[in-house]
Amino acid sequence: MRVLVIGSGAREHALCVALQSDPAVTALACAPGNAGTAVIAQPFALDVGDPVAVAALATEWLADLVVIGPELPLVAGAADAVRDAGIACFGPSEQAAQLEGSKAFAKHVMTAAGVPTARFWAVGGPAELETALDEAGPPYVVKDDGLAAGKGVLVTADRAAAVAHGHAVLDTGHPVLIEEFLDGPEVSLFAVTDGTTVVPLLPAQDHKRRDDGDEGPNTGGMGAYAPLPWAPADLVDTVLATVLQPTVDEMARRGEPFSGLLYAGLALTSAGVRVVEFNARFGDPETEVVLPLLETPLAGLLHAAATGTLAEQPPLRWRDGAAVTVVVAAAGYPQRPRLGDPVTGADAEGVLHAGTVVGPDGLVHSAGGRVLAVTAAGPDLAAARQAAYERVAGVRLAGAHWRTDIALAAVEGRITG
Ligand code: AMP
Ligand code: GLY
Repeated sequence: MRVLVIGSGAREHALCVALQSDPAVTALACAPGNAGTAVIAQPFALDVGDPVAVAALATEWLADLVVIGPELPLVAGAADAVRDAGIACFGPSEQAAQLEGSKAFAKHVMTAAGVPTARFWAVGGPAELETALDEAGPPYVVKDDGLAAGKGVLVTADRAAAVAHGHAVLDTGHPVLIEEFLDGPEVSLFAVTDGTTVVPLLPAQDHKRRDDGDEGPNTGGMGAYAPLPWAPADLVDTVLATVLQPTVDEMARRGEPFSGLLYAGLALTSAGVRVVEFNARFGDPETEVVLPLLETPLAGLLHAAATGTLAEQPPLRWRDGAAVTVVVAAAGYPQRPRLGDPVTGADAEGVLHAGTVVGPDGLVHSAGGRVLAVTAAGPDLAAARQAAYERVAGVRLAGAHWRTDIALAAVEGRITG
């Protein structure tokens, strides 16, 4: 099977590593890829936001399966274009990707499907903003309704800051969503689906804030671990029955079947599980810890989802132990990441590339806010965490910063579900 991965982050690097180890894969490409993926997957220049270009590359390269990593091409219709070209594609249609592309759409689907989520107020203009904030009450949750790479959300007790963020979003032309505040630990649960059958993966936890102790601004994610030793034993079954399957069924009922990766961002509140958000693709950095634990060959699984044959697949097999990934970010991330710094030690085992390119000098340079996702597996979470941080010590990037407490609360037993 010739597999083409679309994207250029550590998620795509993790996908390539897992796909490469599937004996069914005879050729692997990653477009545009990065300095890390290029070592194991053929790179191609590509504008991932151009569905015609994605489908043309898949056709020219004779891909048997296209795996789309990021949300941008999905929301632009790349999966439709690839399927129209007669090639199997892992990723939802443009319509179905609205589960991620529009938070208001996701809320409507959840309401119709009876999926538990935060109460919400959709705000189209400045006049409604303050009324919605007062009805929701503090702490205020103010969201950009469109794609904002995890950075369009403000959670604050400061009403003036909430109003200011709401106005800033409205000024960009996007609607604003005000939400009820959800307390409790957050969980990311991914499911592979062909639009009918839903196969959950292992739960993982992301660390969204920039700094230790969950301080600082929201980011795309600063590190992750899996599985969750503190999670209730029935978590995956509960989420499958109350969130994932009803959502996939509702999308099918609407005539917009969702196939690909359904990512449920969940809060385990005192009142039960609530959906914080849906994404229409593998999460980053959670993918970097979930895939190393998956023993089932990945290409076969994704191909089954892309071709509507998931029900015929055997149950997933998982490795024992745990995995931890630590994101090494550029100076200035997330506000104004500095790019173009040399990166060394990034060819070591477990070092997944997030934002890197090979410069004209033949050396690896930073090319994104998140530069590396340094990953290790181990017999338990404490061992995986220690191994990941030992690997972090081996990389060099001027001005880099990373959290030192990824998975620490879980290792120390300070989280309860
Ligand atoms: P989102 O882009 O919707 O994933 O939001 C990013 C982050 O903001 C989430 O991971 C949460 O940490 C936080 N967040 C979003 N919605 C809520 C909510 N309703 N209550 C509390 N925190 C939230
Ligand atoms: N880990 C957060 C995301 O992928 O959106």
